[in-house]
Amino acid sequence: MKLLVTGGAGFIGSNFTRLALKTKSDWEVTVLDKLTYAGRRENLEDLDDEPRFEFIHGDICDEKAALCAMEGCDTVVNFAAETHVDRSIDDSSSFVRTDIEGVRVLLEAFRREDRHLFLQISTDEVYGSVEKGRSNETDQLAPRSPYAASKAGGELLAMSYWITYGVPVTVTRASNNYGPFQYPEKLIPLFITNAMNGEPLPVYGDGLNKRDWLFVEDHCNALLKVIEKSEPGRIYNIGAGQEYTNREVTSSILEVTGTDRELVRYIEDRPGHDRRYALNVDLIENEIGWKAETGFDEGIRKTADWYIENRAWWQSIKSGEFREYYRSMYADRLKNSRGSI
Ligand code: NAD
Ligand code: TYD
Repeated sequence: MKLLVTGGAGFIGSNFTRLALKTKSDWEVTVLDKLTYAGRRENLEDLDDEPRFEFIHGDICDEKAALCAMEGCDTVVNFAAETHVDRSIDDSSSFVRTDIEGVRVLLEAFRREDRHLFLQISTDEVYGSVEKGRSNETDQLAPRSPYAASKAGGELLAMSYWITYGVPVTVTRASNNYGPFQYPEKLIPLFITNAMNGEPLPVYGDGLNKRDWLFVEDHCNALLKVIEKSEPGRIYNIGAGQEYTNREVTSSILEVTGTDRELVRYIEDRPGHDRRYALNVDLIENEIGWKAETGFDEGIRKTADWYIENRAWWQSIKSGEFREYYRSMYADRLKNSRGSI
């Protein structure tokens, strides 16, 4: 199998690339990545001596780059995306461009030849906020943030290529991932690294929003199985069934980093903040034979250990563009915050 992994220099893509090369000895992987603020070449540098690995710096919206990178590949795994909800609220243009138009460009390049599979990596956020119960793959999509709406557009377009042209497309919708190499703008790595720096942990609203936390290696294992076993035209939810409020996640982070509760600050909520996501994962369990293996307590410890051992990685991120982002996103809200968890 020869894979094109787009967005492979980001969080999940780099974990996936490493796992695929480690566990599938006859697979080759080409990564195509634009190296946006979230994509880091160093996330893959331990693979540079691996002859089955190749890195191409390029944009999925660029037709020539897409065609060239896809040469000889039978499978495309599209991780490339703008991914942070708060940034999408600030400016949605790059989200629409990469998460929808980029998918179109890749699908057009893909359908020029007979190939095995186009795997579109989507998210549980396309279902919108789910007050009760769990989302099934057949539920109507109701995305509420510009990020979620763009991801819904991307996966609907991908599925339309299956229906219209018979392009072999599978869509996966995963819940919130956490683990090594996650850019420290997202809740878990932001709070772990802030705790390590003795800086405030800014909880949005009342902190009772819930997410279903999936350890990144479990997600990547699910994707490897989907590539080998999925029929085209299928959609699979991927979740661990480990629902925690943001307050509970924050408490776990305080514990694993040995941090004082005084650092926790409640700040003004995110606009349109989805209250809860939760997935029914019966389909992937029954059809693909996958189940998450990592409990949250184990996963959060492993994650904190990784950030403790890789301080240079996140310190260099936090001293760059991130500073201005953090100031504009949090400075005023922190001035009006209240404390105690
Ligand atoms: P990330 O932000 O860490 O990485 C995104 C990667 O895509 C980066 O390497 C970036 O450089 C690259 N990229 C962005 N625009 C590009 C373009 N135009 N051309 C080429 N490369 C480009 O994201 P992540 O958290 O690893 O998420 C990966 C995928 O998984 C995304 O599609 C996301 O929607 C989906 N997903 C993420 C989560 C999560 O919790 N992180 C959950 C479910 C689904
Ligand atoms: P995030 O990691 O941004 O993922 P998503 O919004 O895509 O689920 O946020 C996870 C949860 O944590 C979400 O309910 C928003 C909340 N959150 C905070 O309370 N404070 C923060 O600084 C961030 C980044 C997120």
